[in-house]
Amino acid sequence: MCANYSQLTVRPKGADLKGIKYLAINRAKIVGTGSYLPQNVLLNKDLAELVDTSDDWIFSRTGIRERRTVTDGEALSDLAVNASKNALEMAGISADELDAIIVGTCTPDLPIPSSGCLIQDKLGAKRAFAFDIAAGCTGFIYSLSVAEGFVKSNNFGYILVIGAEVLSKVINWEDRGTCILFADGAGAVVLKKDQEEIGILSTHLHSNGSYWDLLYQPGGGSSKPACRQSIDDGSHYLKMEGNRLFKIAVKALEEVALEAIRHNNITINDLDLWIPHQANIRIIEAVAQRLAFPMEKVFANIHKYGNTSAASIPIALDEANREGRIKKGDLVLLDAFGAGLTWGSVLIRW
Ligand code: COA
Repeated sequence: MCANYSQLTVRPKGADLKGIKYLAINRAKIVGTGSYLPQNVLLNKDLAELVDTSDDWIFSRTGIRERRTVTDGEALSDLAVNASKNALEMAGISADELDAIIVGTCTPDLPIPSSGCLIQDKLGAKRAFAFDIAAGCTGFIYSLSVAEGFVKSNNFGYILVIGAEVLSKVINWEDRGTCILFADGAGAVVLKKDQEEIGILSTHLHSNGSYWDLLYQPGGGSSKPACRQSIDDGSHYLKMEGNRLFKIAVKALEEVALEAIRHNNITINDLDLWIPHQANIRIIEAVAQRLAFPMEKVFANIHKYGNTSAASIPIALDEANREGRIKKGDLVLLDAFGAGLTWGSVLIRW
């Protein structure tokens, strides 16, 4: 159920002990962040024209005021490429210096091939290999963890890690339980192998497949391929049990935060910034309360973008970084939960 890829490695002082050459610690360090939101802004009052809801209800139950959705012809890879260019620019490298591209998403441009390969082509990242990871809203945390494993164990210089979603295409715009929450966007980071003491300190991943039907898309896969009937019965739309998810999410986010804290021998007070998955401000507030963690040290932008699933953490990380909310040496905790069910954390010394 749990994988921890980041046991801290002790680097012996002095290089050569009985002829053995010790390697310095390999750390995965974030050297660039970027994000991109589509231009189309959908307000709560616009949704109230589609379904029986109101600005008051949506804001008080979720913290969302507005969200972004793609325009016709705009695909996931377009959002991801824009976010990636921003991250590459901050990292000061070009796309052909990338060794790998890993994309957390559940809404790829096409079922085949991966959006990673389409993004590789659009960026011109000729040396890289590319693939997608589907872990629902935990997709970026999973992708970052896998990338960190590559960086530490292999000879990779730079890896581009993306979280991107176009959920507006799989939402039933007549279902008020889901259409008020989900939205589109993309975020990206560039990871670099480094031998400093800063970078990713730990990653923890979890899943529990017995909860798969709390959030899923019944049609369009191999168990129920797209056909006239699947279109007619709306099988290609997301189905969600929001109420049950809410309770599990609070517990999962709390537990995974405590797991990261214990693993790194720190206390909750040592954290400088917590960037949780932006699913519902009430979930975030409930977890902060259970952890006795001050909301001033929580980064939240759900009011502007809604729940962008795998994109929510990299978008928030990029905003926090560009707004100067993260200083060198800060301890930053990222954690998420999502369809699967999946949940996980990444702790970073910035
Ligand atoms: N507008 C107005 N009323 C709504 C509504 C909407 N958009 N959606 C539901 N309601 C109604 C319900 O029908 C219900 O009415 P009733 O009391 O007459 O039966 C009432 O509001 C309460 O519904 P409930 O589902 O208990 O609301 P809630 O407070 O749990 O909020 C969610 C619903 C979906 C916002 C909330 O459960 C949630 O955010 N869950 C987590 C979902 C999530 O994070 N998913 C992604 C995982 S990554």
